[in-house]
Amino acid sequence: MTRPAKDFFAPLAVGAPSPLRDIPARPSRAIHFFDPGNEKMAAKVPGMVGTVDVLLGNLEDAVKQEFKEKSRQGLVDIAKSTDFGPTQLWTRVNSLDSPWGLDDLITLVTEIGDKLDVIMVPKVQGAADIHYVDRLLAQLEAKAGLTRPILVHAILETARGVANIEEICGASPRMQGLSLGPADLAADRRMKTTRVGGGHPGYLVRQDPPRVDGETKYDAERTIYQQDLWHYTIARMVDACAMHGIYPYYGPFGDILDVQACEDQFRNAFLLGCVGAWSLHPAQIKIAHRVFSPSVEDVAHARRVIAAMGDGTGAVMIDGKMEDDASVKQCQVMVRLAEELAAIDPELKQQYDAIELTEA
Ligand code: GLV
Ligand code: MG
Repeated sequence: MTRPAKDFFAPLAVGAPSPLRDIPARPSRAIHFFDPGNEKMAAKVPGMVGTVDVLLGNLEDAVKQEFKEKSRQGLVDIAKSTDFGPTQLWTRVNSLDSPWGLDDLITLVTEIGDKLDVIMVPKVQGAADIHYVDRLLAQLEAKAGLTRPILVHAILETARGVANIEEICGASPRMQGLSLGPADLAADRRMKTTRVGGGHPGYLVRQDPPRVDGETKYDAERTIYQQDLWHYTIARMVDACAMHGIYPYYGPFGDILDVQACEDQFRNAFLLGCVGAWSLHPAQIKIAHRVFSPSVEDVAHARRVIAAMGDGTGAVMIDGKMEDDASVKQCQVMVRLAEELAAIDPELKQQYDAIELTEA
């Protein structure tokens, strides 16, 4: 059931904070996962503040069932004792059909709700799941006396979730974004893969066989092109998120040592419109920060086009290429993102500022 427009932004519990009208574009190039119940990992968290856009305490998959309560309590302890400064704190709670999901929400919102920016909800199937979380969060926020609403991020990892993608994005003003969950999604769709994200050498197209002297040479050497298994799903996510003013993300890339393929997947997602990806290892933080930040060359070009286009209408030729009202809008997207990132990343700011001097 959709709420009428006049009620869409009303709090769902007496005393709960008002929902936001717009979801802020806070930098979230890398969402770094840690297990708060693992003492070694937990001890590193305070030292990571400021080195990554988002730290996410993971309570769901990858945490063994006998450690679920320990991880939840670990997150409460870390959040209470850490000043996160510019770094966002997110969590991934257990799924709504698990025995832990409800206690995760109750404990986290009432104990550390003031520290949590976003709650990631796994295995979301449709708007009903978001409505359930939405009301519950409002009640818990009111109980905890919170003054700002906690946002919700859904993982797209079931066939039903993909089929219901638009209604999920529009189900609540709390919706912050969507992540691709390639591992669960592959299983749910009965894809014949055994990996966590990334491509597959079997998913390819082959060049046509050459014709030699009027004969087709089927056994000739032919170039093959590996295709992207996730293109369709990411493109759907990007459209659904853009339509609702929220943000799409690539999810996990499981082959930690294959930094090159990880970078390729992240870059494809960036080019298609995603704003970030998950990081399962510190090496992936660096990749995501690099890939999801516009390059110096792109920012320089975008600024040139914007300057040349004046009021943004008409057409100009720059380096032999036509630029017009539409390409200047693409350039504005690039420059806006660069400005948002420069505001929290001094190294990037220096690089972007330096171009301005040389390009002026
Ligand atoms: C992430 O949760 C995935 O299933 O890929
Ligand atoms: Mg999953």
